[in-house]
Amino acid sequence: MAYMIRVSRLVKRFGGDLVLDHISIEVDNGEIVGLVGPNGCGKTTLLRILSGLEDADEGIVEVNGSIGFVTQDDILLPWFTLKGNIELGLKFGNVPKEERDRRVYEAAEILGITEYLDKYPRHVSGGTARKASIARSLVLEPDILLLDEPYSGLDTSSIENLQEALRTISRVRGVSMLIVSHQVDELIKITDRIYILTPKPSRVRKCVSKPYGISLWRY
Ligand SMILES: Nc1ncnc2c1ncn2[C@@H]1O[C@H](COP(=O)(O)OP(=O)(O)OP(=O)(O)O)[C@@H](O)[C@H]1O
Ligand SMILES: [Mg+2]
Repeated sequence: MAYMIRVSRLVKRFGGDLVLDHISIEVDNGEIVGLVGPNGCGKTTLLRILSGLEDADEGIVEVNGSIGFVTQDDILLPWFTLKGNIELGLKFGNVPKEERDRRVYEAAEILGITEYLDKYPRHVSGGTARKASIARSLVLEPDILLLDEPYSGLDTSSIENLQEALRTISRVRGVSMLIVSHQVDELIKITDRIYILTPKPSRVRKCVSKPYGISLWRY
């Protein structure tokens, strides 16, 4: 299968602090891959390197397609409606209004937030805001979505809802995904494969594929 992301023996240090210690991971075309590991082991750093926001010190990073990065604390601008927030990147890219509208409504439809498009972020739930930040990436038509802790702070039904939207994005748009989360039970439901990292300096402790065994619950 063709890879979308291939990271080989990646090393990242901050000053003298070794964070990522020869990490190798791969995301193939159409796959949904999970990444778990303790706080501070470098998961966000890895996603930042993949999206070009940070440089690696050693190793090879190959990315075969465009990346959308939904960050851990992805903040919607309070003075724009959800629609205004979602179309912001398209406006910067000088995409004409008609095309912008088409992409915004398609993304909103997939994520189930069409009825909230004219609302301001403070007037919608955390789950809806999270979906809006995913829509903001989706309208840029990425081949790969990097999602950093997408379930955090959401209640059970919002998470279930979000999971369904992510499955649709994968199925309808063929977007490959790398999802970082501490909620292993949620990752198990949606991913094809999960990489488990050790504490810092982090290495890949193991990589498990579907169907998942009981051992994964005590990573
Ligand atoms: N720009 C930076 N400068 C210095 N140190 C940094 C920088 N960014 C991250 N670090 C350090 O790198 C380590 C990994 O941080 P990172 O945020 O990637 O961890 P994480 O696995 O995402 O943690 P969490 O589960 O809490 O989100 C931490 O020790 C952090 O303090
Ligand atoms: Mg993080």
